[in-house]
Amino acid sequence: MRPKVSIIGAGATGATMAHRLVEKNLCDVVMLDVPERLNPTKGKALDMLQAGPLVGFSTSIIGTSDYKDTENSQIVVITAGVPRKPGMTREDLLHINTQIVRSCAEQAATYSPHAIFIVFSNPLDAMVSVVHRVTQFPRERILGQGGALDSARWRTFIAMELGVSAEDVQGLVLGGHTDVGMVPLPRYTSVAGIPLTDLLDAERIAQLIQRARQGGTEIVQLLGEGSAYYAPSAAVIAMIESILLDKKRIIPSSVLLQGEYGLQDIFLGVPVVLGARGAEKIIELRLTPDELAQLHKAAALVRETISKIAL
Ligand code: 2OP
Repeated sequence: MRPKVSIIGAGATGATMAHRLVEKNLCDVVMLDVPERLNPTKGKALDMLQAGPLVGFSTSIIGTSDYKDTENSQIVVITAGVPRKPGMTREDLLHINTQIVRSCAEQAATYSPHAIFIVFSNPLDAMVSVVHRVTQFPRERILGQGGALDSARWRTFIAMELGVSAEDVQGLVLGGHTDVGMVPLPRYTSVAGIPLTDLLDAERIAQLIQRARQGGTEIVQLLGEGSAYYAPSAAVIAMIESILLDKKRIIPSSVLLQGEYGLQDIFLGVPVVLGARGAEKIIELRLTPDELAQLHKAAALVRETISKIAL
């Protein structure tokens, strides 16, 4: 039997994730949205399925609004929620998305009590906390997607700046998935093994850090409505693939810190080994006092956001 991955929320992000996933031939996919959007959700799923003979995959995908169809998923991705509009921050979505994410997590966890949950909805680190509170799953099985995307944006901007392939750029962005809470780490960034700091001066690096932090906001402004979904969906698929294939890739993800980096009981983005058991290991980097201070500031911002909702 193939593994099953359920994607809760079939908007632009959820549907793009489902599309990427089903064509990988890795797992069966269930795409769920509210009953009012059942027909479009079914329609999208059927449309994706009909690419099978052309693309060459035999995995299945269905659209549904019934959580029973998600039963026994290996992975549940929560993308449901409202995206921001130009001028809004991710934190502006806090109250509305808390209600939506809580309800999705409760229902999905009932049918898949052993699943690994990946949370995508914003404000990300707060929404992962909501899912943790609702499900009470061990921390290995609750992850937030933030760092995979933020690191991809950081790597892309560096590649653009240097005129080299983004594939050769390695780099990490830790912290919160917010414009002010992201912590790009130039010291841990390299291009084909060459330290970034050998290739660019401090002023240019600072400008790229700023662009990476505002990477999502730049796209929200350009789109005019909704937020990014091509790179975000690719980020979630990288996490899913590492888990389903037990690849043990190191991907920055929002996880519950319990003493790591001097932080306690807070979800924040740090490098994590992702394998069949979920967050199998948290990598503790030797940060400089300044880098650590940035991480602690990011944690304080997440705490401040969470304090505005009743968990
Ligand atoms: C982004 O940064 C949607 O939060 C997501 O684009």
